[in-house]
Amino acid sequence: MTVLVVGSGGREHAIAWKLSQEENIEKVFVAPGNGGTAGEAKCENVPLPGDAAGEEAQCFLADFARKAKAGLTIVGPEAPLACGIVDRFREEGLQAVGPDRAAARLETSKSYAKSFMEHYGVRTGRYRLFTEYDSALHYAGQHFKAPSRAAGASDTSAKNRPEHIPPLVVKADGLAAGKGVTVASAPEEAAGAIASLMKEKSLGEAGKTVLLEEYIEGREVSVLAAVSVSPGKPGVILPFLPARDHKRRFDGGKGPNTGGMGAIAPVPDFSPSLEQDFNARILRPTLKGMEAEGLDYRGFIFFGLMIRNGRCFLLEYNVRLGDPETQAVLPLMESNLGDLCLAMLENRLDAFRTAWKAGAVCAPVAVAGELPGFAGYPGAYRKGDPVTVDWEKLAGAGGRLFAAGAAIAPDAAGGPADTGRAALVTSGGRVLAVSAWGADAGEARERAYRGLSAVSFEGMAYRADIGV
Ligand code: GLY
Repeated sequence: MTVLVVGSGGREHAIAWKLSQEENIEKVFVAPGNGGTAGEAKCENVPLPGDAAGEEAQCFLADFARKAKAGLTIVGPEAPLACGIVDRFREEGLQAVGPDRAAARLETSKSYAKSFMEHYGVRTGRYRLFTEYDSALHYAGQHFKAPSRAAGASDTSAKNRPEHIPPLVVKADGLAAGKGVTVASAPEEAAGAIASLMKEKSLGEAGKTVLLEEYIEGREVSVLAAVSVSPGKPGVILPFLPARDHKRRFDGGKGPNTGGMGAIAPVPDFSPSLEQDFNARILRPTLKGMEAEGLDYRGFIFFGLMIRNGRCFLLEYNVRLGDPETQAVLPLMESNLGDLCLAMLENRLDAFRTAWKAGAVCAPVAVAGELPGFAGYPGAYRKGDPVTVDWEKLAGAGGRLFAAGAAIAPDAAGGPADTGRAALVTSGGRVLAVSAWGADAGEARERAYRGLSAVSFEGMAYRADIGV
């Protein structure tokens, strides 16, 4: 079978790599791909006319999938899903993995997602929705005066009395490429975030409606899953091994939020009783809701959880696999990913059994760091710096490089396909991840960081505590 993967990040590299390992997959096209996918066995990058979410690119992709006789298209990022790429493919009789546009609202509209959770009894934090700037500002002001009447209300323990006022989460309703959430610890911070979204319109339409949410303190867990829900048929959600991303830029969970600085899977503290709680209070009500809403959701989902006092709370749905969680989870998957996708699309997921490798995978991310004139990721960063990789050392550590913001060097001698090891230059903030397997989390971490020490580029930076 030939597969088309849409996207250009580390997640898409991990998907393409996993498919390339499978005997029944002959060819993997990645559109547009990156410097890593270009060098992967069986893989070929396909340049796109513009952004994958744009009309022209979506027409091109459907046409390409038909001509290449792709048995399957896997859409990696949320933006093309939000723009209805799956609807277009299905209208044209093509097999595309992902929710249709209506089902994608579980990520593209935070207000829809929250009302869905509320309606179907999915455990989540309290929230209020605002379309008026003044009302949002007033509510935030009240929260910091008397949290028991506002969004921080569900925990009435001593630490949440006014002298320990919990932060308030200010969230844009629409898609914001990871820039739509502020955890405000002070009234001025909340007011600034509300003004930025609703008055200055920093995120355009995405910030027209704002959610003010209860802050749930705890440890984050990401559960990725395969979903097969079609109107009129019993649905299935098949969860993968749990993973943990590390969103803050610096060690110890400090600094600004990022797209994700590294992941580990499975999560040692996600106990069987938490798993049961997740199934009962998050997964099953979600499935019931999807069926009741008559959604057409045949694709991946990402449950962003917070664990507080032994209970799972759902922070958000993402209608795709996580990045960098995928770079930690897929190397543990023993089942055939192509077959899993077909089972989702053909409503045969109930009979599919996922098999997982024992042990753990750690995947720290290397980012473009601070240099004179550049704040470094997630702020402004340099591009075009050569990435040096000592491939023998990387292999010796058992590490695998998943490229993200890394392109093929313009002067790469011989071409990457000749060697499988492209000469790379930096092209994005999150440049790459090194994933390594170990018998346990400790060994996976040791190997991953040994592998990462085989990589260097100007200003390279990373967190040293992924999986700790
Ligand atoms: N790891 C966070 C995300 O994929 O959105």
